[in-house]
Amino acid sequence: MHVSSWRTTYSGLLPEDFLESLSATHYAERWKRVIADGSSRVYVAENDGEIVGFASGGRERAGETGYEGELYAIYVLDSAQRRGLGRELVRSAVAGLRELGLDDMIIWVLRDNSHARAFYERLGGVYVRTQPITIGPVTLEEVSYGWRRLDDVRY
Ligand SMILES: CC(C)(COP(=O)(O)OP(=O)(O)OC[C@H]1O[C@@H](n2cnc3c(N)ncnc32)[C@H](O)[C@@H]1OP(=O)(O)O)[C@@H](O)C(=O)NCCC(=O)NCCS
Repeated sequence: MHVSSWRTTYSGLLPEDFLESLSATHYAERWKRVIADGSSRVYVAENDGEIVGFASGGRERAGETGYEGELYAIYVLDSAQRRGLGRELVRSAVAGLRELGLDDMIIWVLRDNSHARAFYERLGGVYVRTQPITIGPVTLEEVSYGWRRLDDVRY
């Protein structure tokens, strides 16, 4: 699901051959390790027993001043978007951050991923800053949105 969502989300933003080269087996192994490790919180959205979305979050990873919590990733399959699952996944991830004793949240998103940016802005995220990011063979720009308090997330 993660790989398939990357392919549709980043088509046109990342090179097609790079997206084709992503391995579902490799991602599945990585997810098993992340879940077993237990330091992040991972949530899935299901439809008829199939995973159609996920979100993960935990302690902020890069030393960003002013933020201790981070929403690491959130993906909902194209066919399941705009039905409120993204909002519910954020609600779960925010509860997970609270369990970890964190009270704020930052998220990084590709600058040109306008749909996801609209989603974060709708949830009340405030633009923080822009930086370069290298993904596979290309360097793009990513922007961050922050919520200084988890209570500031607007569902
Ligand atoms: C971003 C994403 C997680 C949102 O999930 P979703 O389930 O589609 O979003 P929801 O249905 O919960 O939307 C909540 C609100 O966000 C806003 N929103 C969501 N998608 C939007 C879009 N494509 N354009 C504009 N606003 C959008 C709307 O205000 C929406 O409320 P509404 O439908 O009542 O108008 C989902 O579109 C997705 O997985 N996209 C591809 C992967 C991706 O880009 N992930 C982020 C990587 S950083």
